[in-house]
Amino acid sequence: MIDPFKRLARKGLFLFDPETAHGMSIAALKSGLVPACQITPDPRLRQTVAGLTFENPLGMAAGYDKNAEVPEALLRLGFGFTEIGTVTPKPQSGNPRPRIFRLVEDEAVINRLGFNNEGHEAAFERLSVLTGKGIVGVNIGANKDSEDRIADYVAGIRRFYSVARYFTANISSPNTPGLRDLQARESLAALLSAVLAARDELAERSGRKIPVFLKIAPDLTEEGMDDIAAEALAHPLDGLIVSNTTLSREGLKDQRQAKETGGLSGVPLFEKSTAVLARMRKRVGAALPIIGVGGVSSAETALEKIRAGADLVQLYSCMVYEGPGLPGNIVRGLSELLDREKAGSIRELRDSRVDYWAARKV
Ligand SMILES: Cc1cc2nc3c(=O)[nH]c(=O)nc-3n(C[C@H](O)[C@H](O)[C@H](O)COP(=O)(O)O)c2cc1C
Repeated sequence: MIDPFKRLARKGLFLFDPETAHGMSIAALKSGLVPACQITPDPRLRQTVAGLTFENPLGMAAGYDKNAEVPEALLRLGFGFTEIGTVTPKPQSGNPRPRIFRLVEDEAVINRLGFNNEGHEAAFERLSVLTGKGIVGVNIGANKDSEDRIADYVAGIRRFYSVARYFTANISSPNTPGLRDLQARESLAALLSAVLAARDELAERSGRKIPVFLKIAPDLTEEGMDDIAAEALAHPLDGLIVSNTTLSREGLKDQRQAKETGGLSGVPLFEKSTAVLARMRKRVGAALPIIGVGGVSSAETALEKIRAGADLVQLYSCMVYEGPGLPGNIVRGLSELLDREKAGSIRELRDSRVDYWAARKV
């Protein structure tokens, strides 16, 4: 049951096309009109992953705050971390509008934005004046017209090294033609070598090692997953993010909107992205951190990602449907689930359903 205030706010925002509504929600966060969430810190939710201490395991996924306009306002909603971007070296306008579609009955979104963003400099300037201590990751990508995509990722590491708490190399957006080809074994090896060499050089120079995660698609074959796991383990990568949006349209109710080109996210992505997460956990072993993302809509679904092998969890699409109270509700709900499970930490529950999810046909 959604409360009347939320229903009204949602009805109001849904009068506008999704991209306009998104702009309005960013403006509301900037203005301070959205109330901060009161959460009592729960030490059972706190954990150190890739050398960073997260107050709780729930993060805002990339794509909402592409230009680093509202990272601190997002953290005040209850998120334990947030990820800005994807940012590309040069500003770019992305694909023609309309390019975001709501599938209301499915609680899903299709987007074909194509990395619209203001470029490295604009995001860097905003991040360099942040005063808070919250964890803000920087998701980096390549310009559509880039002649050397790997060089664009390396430029991202160099530009943001002084302000990023972690990096995500996003090679899994379906909306930049050819980008997902970077997931193929030889390209991936070259990308990871270059990105991690830049990171290691800057770590040496600054005395601070910033972790790098790799964000992958859910649309991978078993061999594709084998290759990514092998390369992830062969390089000093700090973790994986599983997953980006899917090209699949299986099981959707809104057949009209389902025909739109782009990546699908939200509730219908949950099963597929969770199965791929578990399969990757089985492949990489217990030590490599994984962030689970795709269709998280509640404390239960967040915990299910953790049971399937995730250390941390992110969401985006379900906030479109549930509103800004969602992160606080999930974090409070996780504490209640830990009470019920009599668990001393979320880490205790990680992997408890890896086999179930890895065997799941999706
Ligand atoms: C409108 C929109 C824009 C997105 N843009 C990006 C992006 O720029 N970079 C990225 O790595 N992921 C992007 N994503 C993917 C999300 O970060 C996330 O991986 C995906 O939506 C699955 O999570 P969800 O089901 O909770 O939305 C975008 C998603 C949406 C809905």
